[in-house]
Amino acid sequence: MKLLKTSYGHFSKDGREFIVATPRTPRPWINVISNGDYGMTVSQTGSGYSWRTHAQLNRLTRWDQDLIKDEWGKYIYIRDERDNVWSAGWKPVCAEPDSYRCRHGIGYSIIESSNHGIETELLVFLPNDEPMEIWKLTLRNTTKRSRVLDLFTFFEWALGQSPDWHREFHKSFMKTDFDTKKNTILAVKRLWEVPTSRGHWNTDWPYVAFHSVDVKPVSFETDKESFLGMYGNQAHPSALREKRLKQRKGNSIDPIGSLQNRITLKPNEEKTLCYTLGCADSKEQASTLARKYHSLTKVQEAFEAVQQRWTAILNTVDVSTPDDPMNIMENVWLKYQAISGRIWGRTAYYQTGGAYGFRDQLQDSQLWLVIDPERTKVQLKLHARHQFKDGTVYHWWHPLSEIGLKNQISDNLLWLPFVMYAYLEETNDFSALNEREAFVDYPEPATMYDHCVRAIDKALERFSPRGLPLIGAGDWNDGLSAVGLEMKGESVWLGHFIHRILRDFATVAEFTNDAQRAENYRNRAQKLRDVLNAEAWDGEYYFGATKDSGEKIGSSVNDEGSVWLNPQTWAVIAGVADNERAHQVIDVVEKRLEKKIGPLLLSPAYSKSDAEVGYLTRYSPGMRENGGVYTHASTWAVIAEAMLGRGDAAFRIYSKLNPINRGKNPETYVAEPYVTSGNIEGPESAFFGRGGWSWYTGSATWLFKAGLEWILGIRPTFEGLLVDPCIPKKWNTYTVRRTFRGAQYTIEVRNPAHVNCGVLELWVDGNRHCMTKGPRNKVVPQFDVGTKHSVLAILGKE
Ligand code: GLC
Repeated sequence: MKLLKTSYGHFSKDGREFIVATPRTPRPWINVISNGDYGMTVSQTGSGYSWRTHAQLNRLTRWDQDLIKDEWGKYIYIRDERDNVWSAGWKPVCAEPDSYRCRHGIGYSIIESSNHGIETELLVFLPNDEPMEIWKLTLRNTTKRSRVLDLFTFFEWALGQSPDWHREFHKSFMKTDFDTKKNTILAVKRLWEVPTSRGHWNTDWPYVAFHSVDVKPVSFETDKESFLGMYGNQAHPSALREKRLKQRKGNSIDPIGSLQNRITLKPNEEKTLCYTLGCADSKEQASTLARKYHSLTKVQEAFEAVQQRWTAILNTVDVSTPDDPMNIMENVWLKYQAISGRIWGRTAYYQTGGAYGFRDQLQDSQLWLVIDPERTKVQLKLHARHQFKDGTVYHWWHPLSEIGLKNQISDNLLWLPFVMYAYLEETNDFSALNEREAFVDYPEPATMYDHCVRAIDKALERFSPRGLPLIGAGDWNDGLSAVGLEMKGESVWLGHFIHRILRDFATVAEFTNDAQRAENYRNRAQKLRDVLNAEAWDGEYYFGATKDSGEKIGSSVNDEGSVWLNPQTWAVIAGVADNERAHQVIDVVEKRLEKKIGPLLLSPAYSKSDAEVGYLTRYSPGMRENGGVYTHASTWAVIAEAMLGRGDAAFRIYSKLNPINRGKNPETYVAEPYVTSGNIEGPESAFFGRGGWSWYTGSATWLFKAGLEWILGIRPTFEGLLVDPCIPKKWNTYTVRRTFRGAQYTIEVRNPAHVNCGVLELWVDGNRHCMTKGPRNKVVPQFDVGTKHSVLAILGKE
């Protein structure tokens, strides 16, 4: 059975592979594989790039952004004895294979194809703890005659900053070598773009790059001109018309890596070659790593270790619902996208990235909470170290160089307390608040509690005279980049966000015996709630913001952008709207913003750019923040619906955002059906429904949370694990298995009366249990670490 099949591919039965059926997908469909330090992208054409620590500052191989050509990569050419040439992926030769499939999996990709009677299987992956990748190539002769094949690898070295637009300059510092005994090409560079204490542009690239193969090569090349030929091209390199490579190495060349192997295959014979590519700390480490993987057994062991690591990560929580697309995304791909793509890699084809976004990776790291909350704490502490003493933070910063951008965007700093609170709810580990970290501009460490309240207190200073928070150079929405540059304009969404944080941190302050602060935060929250409901109410919904001039935007008085999503969803999420208003604004979301692709970020899109709003209005209408579905924000509509008990709507919106469902129309949607898109183009676009910026930040973690915690309703609270489903009425039953504070819970939910929500009965390990938290939910207590428990929840009307 081919699960969820379209003309471009399908999922494997366990959902852990997406099998692409043709190299000609509507856009490159890629995998972002990272081990936390080293990483690579690989598309179904076999293209992609590699990096260590930072995909832009420390790119190992060259790549330039071109999603139409997708022609930068690390390739293997195959030439047979009759001079037929093809690629083990598909690019760059693009020969028509007799058969082809690309299996994107968790931590690996496999491209299988058959050309001229030779079957190839190219497996690419990275060992768990080493700064390198492995390409295991198996070739099988399916013909009745003996075959002689020449194999040539090919890629261009970047060795640092990318894109390498200043190539003539940069290549002058690079040097290649070939170690005949170890079958290894080495490459170094005597300049790096990363500043050190001794100054910018005056340091060695501190790594040694290597490319090796386990079978003795017959030749090698590290000079691009020799390989491609002057005015040559990748599809037909001149080297492939010659018997032997020229074997140029050293300085003063445009450096590439190419190893030539010759193999003979008898009929039905199969041979495997293992190539490595890596970025070592020293020449010694490069040799050690290259040699280690000259052993097929070691390659096999490393691959098994990768699978074990991912299985352990994925299996900590899983769901079994009546909806396959939901199961596959919750169990496999949303976790993988958040961890491999966003927390570790922070890079993909639509944005090569590499930096840490202050708010981005904090939100992404919430994914770890159900799996390994310690890792969320590590992320919180890393971000705390990028806070200034006055409570403000970098908008983003680069690992390696530690250069960061400070701007007037007003919400960034608040994600620290927001995610800290989520960590506390998951773990009840209040000792984390006492752990200490320094500031970017001040070495004396402060407690995490101090870091958090500094952020809150800073935000509380930036209010307008009537009591709404100032937007500055944008709130969560980066595109509102000019609304409040004079620090007069206000943000309504930010008001909701602060309200929620004040309420939450009042609780934290109480727990930590900071009673004065608790009271203060509670009073501020109450005041803010009143102001939001009085001043930010537009008649039918909350308006979006005010400009420095005082003019309202995101309001019914505007012709364009007259209704915004975030001020409505967060009025519910943050508890600002009372019950009646909450339903009213979510009705507006459904009526005015929700389309077949999900709820738009705003509507109608801006057709004219507005210098007082920001770059959002400069995107073409329907694109990204200008009236598209911005998946990250749209997931909050799922949460708001679920909070109101509107289970059919919550699931409907979740399903619209689910890339598997969007991907049922691949010609329209074009993006990968197994990871979320950052955005889907809105109705004003000529490409309404087209997905883009796949593998992007924010959306995977939030969609995962919306599904697990709000639709399936299993979420942590200080008292225990809450069971508060909000599901479609038609569902009969589902199961969630998750770990909570070290104990394992298997929770079965039954819905005999076909309601959306409301837990009538809760049975824990066979005993009726009744710890009620709210009107419709119940709490399962915390148990001892290592114990296993079964929970049965029966839904129904009181
Ligand atoms: C991008 C940014 C994120 C921001 C969002 C909305 O995804 O990385 O930080 O919140 O755009 O503008």
